[in-house]
Amino acid sequence: MKPVPFDYFVAHSVEEALAALAAGGEDAKPIAGGQSLVPALNMRLLRPSLLVDLNRAGLDGLAEENGRLRVGAMVRQATLERCADSHPLVREALAYVGHVGTRARGTVGGSIAHADGGAELPLCLAALGGSIIVDGPNGRREIEPEDFFVTHYSTTLQPGELIVETTWPAPRAGEAYAFEELALRAGDYALSMVVVSGTTVAVGAVTDRPTVLGEVGALLAGADTSNELAREAGALAATLVDPPGHIHASPRVSEAPHRRAGRASSEEIVDIELTVNGRPVWESVEPRLLLVDFLRHRLGLTGTHVGCEHGVCGSCTVQLDGEAVRSCLLLAVQADGSTLETVESLAQGDELSPLQQAFRRNHALQCGFCTPGILMAATELLERGTPTREQIVDLLSGHLCRCTGYAPIVAAIEQAAAE
Ligand code: FES
Ligand code: FES
Repeated sequence: MKPVPFDYFVAHSVEEALAALAAGGEDAKPIAGGQSLVPALNMRLLRPSLLVDLNRAGLDGLAEENGRLRVGAMVRQATLERCADSHPLVREALAYVGHVGTRARGTVGGSIAHADGGAELPLCLAALGGSIIVDGPNGRREIEPEDFFVTHYSTTLQPGELIVETTWPAPRAGEAYAFEELALRAGDYALSMVVVSGTTVAVGAVTDRPTVLGEVGALLAGADTSNELAREAGALAATLVDPPGHIHASPRVSEAPHRRAGRASSEEIVDIELTVNGRPVWESVEPRLLLVDFLRHRLGLTGTHVGCEHGVCGSCTVQLDGEAVRSCLLLAVQADGSTLETVESLAQGDELSPLQQAFRRNHALQCGFCTPGILMAATELLERGTPTREQIVDLLSGHLCRCTGYAPIVAAIEQAAAE
């Protein structure tokens, strides 16, 4: 079993849910769509003693009222996406929330309660000036987004309280809107998001909670729209946020002090120099950047794969000064002054290396995920001489292949050794 054991209670009303949560104490958790909660349970990041299931608690009302859309906490994201004709901004943003399969089950209230700083629905709610209605031991209260979201995954929800509804003001007639998101893949966590609704501008992911940029709104209000004004607003917005950075982008590289290797603080950038696949490379990196991320994201050498990130699967194997090593267990700064070879170095143009050809002949790969790492380790083994069967098996014990089976891989390495 992946999650820890827990008691389970199906609530048939809000009252039942609140009573169960109160009785369950601090370790009781409500479960709505479960699209974020279940992964956290699977990884045992959460260890509730009781799960209170809200799926039958009657929180799925959806109605327009006095220019507001009232959305029950258990309304599915996919349902809102289909029904939000009067809220084109929300509908547009929902297309970025996970995938069709997660939106089918994920709920609007669940996303708001989860309070991920990079989530789309909290940002839209903040930009539109909506509200969150919660119920709990001290009765119902309505909270504005700026008083609800505290930081990543943290809200002002009190113990025993539940979100029961959110309200979404309709845009004013003729009001312009836009939702833009930058993410590496569709459905992936946002690297940055911006919502514009009239003259309200709000950003997410570059901040730890949905943030309305009042100064930008003030700049836009009362001025004639122009490209120049938009650029000015963008430049102002950039000065108002301090993005936390990401494995794919450091926000500080251009401003931080640079130094050559030796001693560097976490605030400094280290200039490194190495040879990769025969090419000289000069780069500036934070000390915490992993070698595998450096290869993939800085140099675009995506043949080196990332699997476990803790040295077990072998898919990130490269050669560092002729030795096969795990690039997920090395820092890029440690490779300063070294010579690196990745799987991209093996073929000469269209001509595969003898080992690669042997892999092809022996059907030694299927999905190919493990293959670059095995090729790099086996290439080094072959460079040392003709390996024994035991040496090949020993080498492969450090590489996980989920789909091919090891016999054809052993055969390919033996055949390449015999050539
Ligand atoms: Fe490096 Fe698995 S990703 S060993
Ligand atoms: Fe698929 Fe090895 S070929 S994991």
